[in-house]
Amino acid sequence: MVTKLVDLRSDTVTKPSEAMRAAMAAADVDDDVLGADPTAHRFETEMARIMGKEAALFVPSGTMANLISVLVHCDTRGSEVILGDNSHIHIYENGGISTIGGVHPKTVRNNPDGTMDIDKIVAAIRHPDGALYYPTTRLICLENTHANCGGKCLSAEYTDEVGEVAKSHGLKLHIDGARIFNASVALGVPVHRLVQAADSVSVCISKGLGAPVGSVIVGSTAFIDKAKILRKTLGGGMRQVGILCAAAYVAVRDTVGKLADDHRRAKVLADGLKKIKHFRVDSTSVETNMVFFDIVDSRISPNKLCQILEHRNVLAMPASSKSMRLVVHYQISDSDVQYALACLEKAAEEILTGSKKFEHLTNGSTRNSYGH
Ligand SMILES: Cc1ncc(COP(=O)(O)O)c(C=O)c1O
Repeated sequence: MVTKLVDLRSDTVTKPSEAMRAAMAAADVDDDVLGADPTAHRFETEMARIMGKEAALFVPSGTMANLISVLVHCDTRGSEVILGDNSHIHIYENGGISTIGGVHPKTVRNNPDGTMDIDKIVAAIRHPDGALYYPTTRLICLENTHANCGGKCLSAEYTDEVGEVAKSHGLKLHIDGARIFNASVALGVPVHRLVQAADSVSVCISKGLGAPVGSVIVGSTAFIDKAKILRKTLGGGMRQVGILCAAAYVAVRDTVGKLADDHRRAKVLADGLKKIKHFRVDSTSVETNMVFFDIVDSRISPNKLCQILEHRNVLAMPASSKSMRLVVHYQISDSDVQYALACLEKAAEEILTGSKKFEHLTNGSTRNSYGH
């Protein structure tokens, strides 16, 4: 028996399924920069349909999808975007909207549930009377699910409300929907309804959906026409990209139906962590595939915990100096969750007592067909 790696670092770590690999091998391709790749065209058409928008564009990453979207909406110098202070765009995307796009960020505090208070959004909108001094607000960005807030879902009603604020002030609304399908499944709301109020949405195909590469931007035809030019400017125009779109098509077709299992397993993980005295987790806060937990004993550092876990084939990532983040995806089974819980408990004890705790612990799972 070969012990399987239980990789809980992120949902970006999935390997393409056999069906994805087969679709990639068989993909009919052509030069997509010339607009001729049939597989890219089929995938983009399907994504526009699913998301309820006029058009879609495949791009290499979520970061590029957000950057292009913000830059299309903020195409005048001196533009400002309102976004959460804990949002991915603001924290983890190299400040690209400023460094590359010259767009000024105006942050509003993210609540623990990923929302920003509506009155705070309204207060952040620049008044035209100050146009001589202020940047000009052009865009509001939401994130759904909200990664740094623990994979929390924004409801359709909340999104509509923000959409109303945007519309009534002549602004646009962009959603970083890297994990919008997780939100849709968790809320039981069709994805097109969740993003109805948005002018643009970026969707990652290579996170919980499991494709090897790519994101897609959706919006109006006019928006996507401009996005296509920016994609080329940023070096994101790809030639026989149907190879990647073939896998993305299969990911959307096959994996959305499995996300509910990921969410159930994340809950089991959180409930299990709650029973380990060294950890603190609010399992009711687990809405999708992410589990954040605190380490209550200061002698247990997240880095040390990760080191010991790695020796037992469990990969995890620190979230801060006192907390950890675990992410469930479709290559994590029920037995993987149980194995990870057992390893976490023993690793914490090993740190505290200095004695090895793992002698008889192995993961019963064998390597799966994805070469894990
Ligand atoms: C919420 C969110 N948005 C955007 C991104 C960026 O995606 P990528 O890593 O494909 O650039 C990520 C990546 O983890 C993310 O979690």
